[in-house]
Amino acid sequence: MRTKETAKNLYLKKVFSKEDDILRSIRTNSEKENVGHMQISGYEGGILQFLCKALKVKKAVEIGTLHGYSSLMIARTLPSDGKLFTLDIDKNRQEKAKTLMKKDPHSHKIRFIPGPAIQSLKTIENEGPFDMVFIDADKKAYLDYLDWSDKHLNSGGLLAADNTFLFGAVYGEPEREQDKEALEVMKKFNEKIAHSGMYTSTLIPTAEGMTVGIKK
Ligand SMILES: C[S@@+](CC[C@H](N)C(=O)[O-])C[C@H]1O[C@@H](n2cnc3c(N)ncnc32)[C@H](O)[C@@H]1O
Repeated sequence: MRTKETAKNLYLKKVFSKEDDILRSIRTNSEKENVGHMQISGYEGGILQFLCKALKVKKAVEIGTLHGYSSLMIARTLPSDGKLFTLDIDKNRQEKAKTLMKKDPHSHKIRFIPGPAIQSLKTIENEGPFDMVFIDADKKAYLDYLDWSDKHLNSGGLLAADNTFLFGAVYGEPEREQDKEALEVMKKFNEKIAHSGMYTSTLIPTAEGMTVGIKK
């Protein structure tokens, strides 16, 4: 979910967002449906792509599909026999994602799994272990998603999570009404990745904050 654009972020987007027609159509569609603020920017997608390539990710999980913007960016970095399992509670959003990306030569790598993520994750466990988990859904469940990732990521696998500044609330800015319950979860989430000893980690200070860890 996006906060107010700063000149710095506009510059990063201008230079480092390589949006082609398909990604642009996904973005435009989300903006038309007033959910454009929920998807990552091309620049943030570039960070995910950079990490996936560097770590040679082949089998990935995404929690939070929306219209498939980040899904497609991740899928484009996977080898031709790579797979991305993308989970969303909203089946209609996933159907829209399928339609919007069907002409992309990398879309065949994506498996869409509708339903509450906590249940869907159980159904894909036998496909693991995974090389990457990208968390970008309901903030209150981030610790549950981290617990799952701890168990199902390969050693050397990537954990990435968006919105981990929780709109500034984790470092003391007033939290939004809708984030009150998620605040303690997000603080614990960041602290656990930083200090559990399981990850080499950092929090990339994008506009929203993107916590990343490589499992030891
Ligand atoms: C921030 S959007 C994902 C944006 C997407 N990753 C992108 O950047 O293009 C969050 C998505 O999580 C989904 N979501 C919310 N709660 C969920 C849950 N409990 N299980 C699965 N998906 C959930 C929402 O329906 C929404 O589409």
